[in-house]
Amino acid sequence: MTDPKPKPSTLAAQAMGWVDPTTKAVIPPIHTATTFIRDPDNQYRSGRSYARADNPTFDHAEALLNALEGGAGCLTFASGMAAATTVFQILAPGDHVVAPTVMYWGLRKWLSTFGRERGLVVDLVDASDLDNIAAALRPGATKLVWIETPANPTWAVTDIAAAAKLAHDAGARLAVDSTVATPLLTRPIALGADLVMHSATKYLNGHSDVVAGALVTARQDDFWARIETLRHDGGAILGPFEAWLLLRGMRTLPLRVERACRTAALLAERLAAHRSVAAVLYPGLPDHPGHAVAARQMQGGFGGMLSIRVDGGEQAAIATAARVRIWKRATSLGGVESLIEHRASVEGPGTPVPRDLLRLSVGIEDPDDLLADLDQALGA
Ligand SMILES: Cc1ncc(COP(=O)(O)O)c(C=O)c1O
Repeated sequence: MTDPKPKPSTLAAQAMGWVDPTTKAVIPPIHTATTFIRDPDNQYRSGRSYARADNPTFDHAEALLNALEGGAGCLTFASGMAAATTVFQILAPGDHVVAPTVMYWGLRKWLSTFGRERGLVVDLVDASDLDNIAAALRPGATKLVWIETPANPTWAVTDIAAAAKLAHDAGARLAVDSTVATPLLTRPIALGADLVMHSATKYLNGHSDVVAGALVTARQDDFWARIETLRHDGGAILGPFEAWLLLRGMRTLPLRVERACRTAALLAERLAAHRSVAAVLYPGLPDHPGHAVAARQMQGGFGGMLSIRVDGGEQAAIATAARVRIWKRATSLGGVESLIEHRASVEGPGTPVPRDLLRLSVGIEDPDDLLADLDQALGA
């Protein structure tokens, strides 16, 4: 009998079972060295020369994420934005890009400013409707379709398999920001994506104490080689301590995501019936426009992110956030502590986010405490 392939929670808990060959330690060390010895015959047999690309501390987090995503290679970066913008920076001036209107606002802003200044031709479309992607594609000119699913902060869902087919038929690649889904709920590469991006600052690390990003590729090709070269030459690497913390965080990813999904589903259901809530946006609710696709492409839950639209508009929403006692009024997502934020205030002028929307990142606290706190904040 052959050994069964370890499941994601086994891979994560044991960080793929790595044991230090010298000391037999079960936890990898943090390598702070910036440089490595050259052999007397002028070769670098260790395969490492300088830590801007070769730090051994990166290897473990990258190998684990690569295994969880089912990829052919993974690179960590100094932040999610560093990872995402590296992909756009290897495109050439004049290349056409299709990206969603509803997405992480920082990347939308970068695409509309730096991206366009660099000569990228960027079309932003409602990517929850595949017809919009199809209509925006320019066969031959479109080099990249970028999607985020579920997408900030309405948790709009894009059908990854269908988007991949559309992109490929037009000669483009599909990249998926899978930060919110995590590799546990969705594996974009198995659905046809060429690249997966994570803000590892969020669920992967999970403890709100590391800024990090990652890219995973479906195959080792020229495109990926250029990404590797740009990380090496541009230097947007993760520090060794952050890489080490990231691996430590990823060991509990399955537990945290499972708990966050369960609590988010409960909160979504309860808040949908709350007298002060005009709408709940959560892909797990049958009335969410992306529910059917999410049910197909997400396994084990619909994520730990939801948004509510508060009766009474912007001021009522801000006042609700002001009254929470357990939830933390802060931006970001995917940590063990639950966060609440008035999203339009974060995104600033020109945001497409409804003014009455509060974004909730569900942590791992007791679900009853979280619900009771929201109830008192909404009901006062
Ligand atoms: C979905 C998503 N993608 C990308 C990013 C950017 O990641 P980072 O803040 O690690 O640069 C964020 C940050 O909030 C995000 O939520």
